Amino acid sequence: MGKLDGKVALITGGNSGIGLAAARLFMEEGARIVLAARGEERGREAAESLVRTGGQAIFAPCDLRRSADCQRLVELAIETYGRLDILFNNAGVIHIDRSVVTTSEEEWDETMDVNVKGIFLMSRAAIPWMRKNQGGAIVNTASIFGLVGGSGAAAYCASKGAVILLTKAMALDHAGEKIRVNCVCPGSVDTPMLQGEMDTLGGVEKMRASFAARHPLNRIATPDEIARAVLYLASDDSSFVTGIALPVDGGRSAW
Ligand SMILES: NC(=O)c1ccc[n+]([C@@H]2O[C@H](COP(=O)([O-])OP(=O)(O)OC[C@H]3O[C@@H](n4cnc5c(N)ncnc54)[C@H](OP(=O)(O)O)[C@@H]3O)[C@@H](O)[C@H]2O)c1
Repeated sequence: MGKLDGKVALITGGNSGIGLAAARLFMEEGARIVLAARGEERGREAAESLVRTGGQAIFAPCDLRRSADCQRLVELAIETYGRLDILFNNAGVIHIDRSVVTTSEEEWDETMDVNVKGIFLMSRAAIPWMRKNQGGAIVNTASIFGLVGGSGAAAYCASKGAVILLTKAMALDHAGEKIRVNCVCPGSVDTPMLQGEMDTLGGVEKMRASFAARHPLNRIATPDEIARAVLYLASDDSSFVTGIALPVDGGRSAW
C-alpha cells in the first residue's frame, strides 16, 4: 500500500532536479503524475522514464509566468486523471552573484514571477478542484535563503522569503477546507540549478567543497533527500501539519 495511492499530483519544475526526484518518489507511492516545465524534450524524457517503471505520468509544457498556462495545466490534470490532490509548486530560478545594484529589472521580474507569482497562479487554479475532493496538499519549494539572507542573491532571497509567508497565509485561508499548505527550505542540493551557481562562482570542482562546508553535515544534499521531505508534507504522514517551513538543510539554519 503506497502513501499516495489513488492521488493525482501536479509537479512544477518536474523535468529536472528536485521536481523529478519527487515525481519518482510520488509514483513509487502510488500517485499519478503531471510534470510541468518549459523544456519539452527533458519533460517528455522524464515522463517516459516514469512510465517505463510502470506508473502513470504525463508531461505538459508551460511557462509559469503565464496565467493561461497555469490554468491549462490544472485543466489537463483533471481531463487526464479526473482529480487533483497534490500540488508541488517547485519550479524556480536564481540569478546568482547579484546584489540589488547589479540585478537587472528583467532578472528581478523573472525571479519574482516564477518563484512567487507562479505559486499564486498555480494555487489559484488548483484549489477549487481540491475543494471538490474535500481536501488536498500543497507543498511549495522555498529555500534556506527564505529563512536567512545569502550574499549575491538579493532577488532570490526576497522571492523565497515571500514563498514562506505566502505558504503560511494560504495555510490559514484553506485550513477549513482541509487543504494543507507547507513549504520545504532546502540547503544546497545537487541539481542543475546548483551546478549553474557553482559554474558562475568559479567552477563546479572548485566550489563544491566550499558549498558543502556551509552545512554542518559538511555535504550537499541529493535531490532525493529533499523529495522525501516533500513526500512527508504531501502525504497523510503530515495530516496535522500545515503552515510550516521545513528546513532540509544539513543543519545550516541551526547556526
Ligand atoms: N538546488 C539547490 O541548491 C536549491 C536550494 C534551495 C532551493 N532550491 C529550489 O528548488 C527548486 C527546484 O530547483 P532545482 O534545484 O531542482 O533546480 P533545476 O533542476 O534547475 O529545476 C528548476 C526547474 O524549474 C523549471 N522552471 C524554471 N523556470 C520556469 C518557468 N518560467 N516555467 C516553468 N518552469 C520553470 C525548470 O524547467 P525549465 O527550465 O525546463 O522550464 C526546472 O524544471 C527551485 O524552486 C529552487 O529555487 C534549490
